[in-house]
Amino acid sequence: MRAVQLEEFGGPEVLRLTDLPVPEPGDDEVLIEVSRAGINFADTHTRENTYVARYELPLVPGGEVAGSTPDGARVVAMLGGTGGYAEYAVAPRATTFPIPEGVEEGAALALLIQGLTAWHLYRTSAKLAQGESVVVHAAAGGVGSLAVQLGKPFGAGRVIATASSEDKRQKALELGADIAVGVNADDLAGALREANEGRRVDVVFEMAGGRVFDQSLEALAAFGRLVTYGIASREQNELKSGYLMRKSKAVVGFYLGHCLGRREMMEDALADLFDRAARGELRPQVGGTYPLSEAGRAHEEMQGRRTSGKLLLDPTA
Ligand SMILES: NC(=O)c1ccc[n+]([C@@H]2O[C@H](COP(=O)([O-])OP(=O)(O)OC[C@H]3O[C@@H](n4cnc5c(N)ncnc54)[C@H](OP(=O)(O)O)[C@@H]3O)[C@@H](O)[C@H]2O)c1
Repeated sequence: MRAVQLEEFGGPEVLRLTDLPVPEPGDDEVLIEVSRAGINFADTHTRENTYVARYELPLVPGGEVAGSTPDGARVVAMLGGTGGYAEYAVAPRATTFPIPEGVEEGAALALLIQGLTAWHLYRTSAKLAQGESVVVHAAAGGVGSLAVQLGKPFGAGRVIATASSEDKRQKALELGADIAVGVNADDLAGALREANEGRRVDVVFEMAGGRVFDQSLEALAAFGRLVTYGIASREQNELKSGYLMRKSKAVVGFYLGHCLGRREMMEDALADLFDRAARGELRPQVGGTYPLSEAGRAHEEMQGRRTSGKLLLDPTA
């Protein structure tokens, strides 16, 4: 089968097309003929081996696929981090879900890792209360474009988007943000307060690290929660416990891996996302479909901050 395999960790050039045997499912696993593989920002970390989970070579990157099982069922599946950039993948039965009628495969993939993340940022980590303000960074991205749309249905009083370009800020406004701020503003903390009508903000979903983390924490109100769920800049931050106490601020970590194996956190949350999509309340944004042979270009564009929405790979091309 056609697959992208890493023989070394490194830049997008290490994503090379090769020919591999079709994988064999073990007990409690399912073989999936892949029609679309999902690309996640985490895959750029896997490619460099710089993320939460650590990997051994060689490996096929890609944490999620959509396709069909041998009995013809249309499914979407999380793979446990690797194995997705290929014509066939094996997935744990526990993280393989039927795609509801009327939902396209790209939309189902958007709602899986990125959608579940957006859902849990609100419900599990921030525990957003009615009327609170929320800042969504990278608001036109895979997670961000869904988090913006879930804001009002989940009770947000004000949804403040940030993005690095005018096009992406426009997209965030179209998706329901009340206001969109340039993330590269010199005084980002001040810009976030201004966007919240002069008040500090209640909740921030922070995935960049470095100065965006520091400035977001500064903009947070007393009893506010900053949820840290990514390090796109590759810069980690350090914190003083005394600062959090003096300001009554909370910093909460979130990693979707910890939801695996918890039925209500996976199946129930995904069912809610599928229902909202079916009702038209949530519009998953497919931002591009790349041939498998151009996985490297997809990574380059994603890391170069030139993409929006969900990115997909077509394993047949
Ligand atoms: N913790 C978890 O379980 C979990 C699960 C899913 C995703 N994530 C994290 O959530 C974030 C979004 O993931 P995604 O798959 O939806 O990707 P994405 O948002 O579609 O793409 C990444 C976006 O991040 C922004 N960004 C900020 N700083 C960046 C930098 N230094 N380099 C590159 N991009 C930067 C860019 O938006 P702007 O240019 O508009 O700023 C870029 O478009 C990632 O950090 C990812 O690791 C975490």
